[in-house]
Amino acid sequence: MSERHSCTCHDITVDEFRSACAGGAHNVKTCFKTLGCLPQCNKCIPLIRSVLNEFSGQAPQNTVVDTPPHTA
Ligand code: FES
Repeated sequence: MSERHSCTCHDITVDEFRSACAGGAHNVKTCFKTLGCLPQCNKCIPLIRSVLNEFSGQAPQNTVVDTPPHTA
């Protein structure tokens, strides 16, 4: 197995997930849907989320983001 493969169940590369994101996929489900398959073992999901974060420019989903306090 090449290290370029992020999903061994479907033989999908990181670059293919990046292409899906560039094409508008905005979550794990739409990434797989764009590539014509569904997740099987879910082992690749953390890696897909990191690719999604590259495209969203946002912090990882489990990161707490401080918000300013409300002023009345
Ligand atoms: S490695 Fe991607 S669904 Fe199993």
